[in-house]
Amino acid sequence: MHNQPFYNQIQATLADIDAQGLTKHEVSITSEQSAHIQTAVEPQRQSVEMLNLCANNYLGLANEPRLIASAKKALDENGYGMASVRFICGTSSLHHALETRLANFLQQDACILYSSCFDANTGLFETLLGEPDAIISDSLNHASIIDGIRLCKAKRYRYQNNDMQDLETQLAAAKSAHARHIMIATDGVFSMDGTIANLPVICDLAAAYGALVMVDDSHAVGVLGAQGRGSIEHCDVMNRVDIVTGTLGKALGGASGGYVAASASVVELLRQRSRPYLFSNALAPMITAASLTALDIVEAEPQRRQTLQRNAEQFSSALTQAGFDLAGEGHPIIPIMVGDANRAQAFSQALASQGILASAFAYPVVPAGKARIRTQMSSAFDENTLAQAIAGVIAAGKSAGIIA
Ligand SMILES: Cc1ncc(COP(=O)(O)O)c(C=O)c1O
Repeated sequence: MHNQPFYNQIQATLADIDAQGLTKHEVSITSEQSAHIQTAVEPQRQSVEMLNLCANNYLGLANEPRLIASAKKALDENGYGMASVRFICGTSSLHHALETRLANFLQQDACILYSSCFDANTGLFETLLGEPDAIISDSLNHASIIDGIRLCKAKRYRYQNNDMQDLETQLAAAKSAHARHIMIATDGVFSMDGTIANLPVICDLAAAYGALVMVDDSHAVGVLGAQGRGSIEHCDVMNRVDIVTGTLGKALGGASGGYVAASASVVELLRQRSRPYLFSNALAPMITAASLTALDIVEAEPQRRQTLQRNAEQFSSALTQAGFDLAGEGHPIIPIMVGDANRAQAFSQALASQGILASAFAYPVVPAGKARIRTQMSSAFDENTLAQAIAGVIAAGKSAGIIA
């Protein structure tokens, strides 16, 4: 084959990834997404029940009958797909209803839906900012924020994760470089670490330096705050944040879709110019309808958040007592720090032997040498499931030599 050198190079790259213990293996799930799942295990694909400790199913809505009923109703009434981008003929009344609902929920003027939050973040910065501007980004921001910033011509500044002194240094640098507009961009919750951004200080610094604040609250909407409005509610800065982005693919049912909530003019400019919005198909009506039901449940059932919080506290205190090194604080993302990528893979395999699904995260998803098992708690865990999870993690930690 005349392109053989190309394919050889791809094979060599894959071999290199494998040699470093960085190959990601996908588990085939044959049941609904839930606390207990059925997986098809190779080579015979026999069905194995596992306890799922790594889903973004924070509120247990991924298989919630009311969401499924809303999706089915929308399938019957609005059909399967829109077969268009939004501005040609892809806008259903459900899209407008969800945009209004999300804007109200997040206390912003307006909202615009995307196929994913990844798209929302990649279409945001280049539409709103240009060469004379500056973006100041947290070093642990999600890949989609990083990519979105790369697409934008604004000058880039980076501050160390949640380090407010460094943020101020970067703000001062952008100011003295005479940036026209300055935007601070941060995750509300840092998804690999399970920590919450210091939004009160970020907003204070933004006010002092005349900067805008953008928060990606993908891991916090539905999860944090008394009413589930996210880290911005949890940190009491709802009306001090200019732009909120988020996903429908985690706490709000876990299907797919993302959004930007902001002032009416910002949202209107995104509708006119944002490339992933203009050039990508509209969200399916069934997802839009189910997301409206998810928001009803987030508002009407705060007990889900309370159960989630209680489960997360019990889980992390039991693991700390057992001798694990945990990261995270105040959020149901509870990473178990391991360090070496191969050790993290071995721990993940030991967990699988205990019937627990929890993936290892290593470079490039987290910094080299900081491999971990990221566990995520859910309100769908009842007492028995939680006890089973704790016992299984401890047994796996012992067999993999993570704890004594
Ligand atoms: C902070 C953050 N932003 C954006 C995304 C992407 O969301 P979506 O799956 O909707 O593209 C994720 C999901 O991994 C995330 O954790």
